[in-house]
Amino acid sequence: MEQSDKAVILQLHSLKMKMEPGTYFWCACGRSNKQPFCDGSHRGTAFRPEKVVIEKPQHVAWCMCRHSKKGAFCDNKHRELPGYLKKEDR
Ligand code: FES
Repeated sequence: MEQSDKAVILQLHSLKMKMEPGTYFWCACGRSNKQPFCDGSHRGTAFRPEKVVIEKPQHVAWCMCRHSKKGAFCDNKHRELPGYLKKEDR
């Protein structure tokens, strides 16, 4: 697997944001400088952004480890990754 085929793990916790209705493109590669959204930095990799439509104002926990089974949305998979510190270990 080439380096460009691996998603960048930016942090081992989600990024929580209050979102307004609209269409967003979540960065699936972890290379964007406008996290958690795509800025085109995925060019040359196997990744494509994920289109997310928010229909009403809501809080969103964006996945920042790129391992969530729910795509753009955190499912706490980061807690299973190497390096994650459980509360009792902090
Ligand atoms: S910059 Fe990461 S998917 Fe576009």
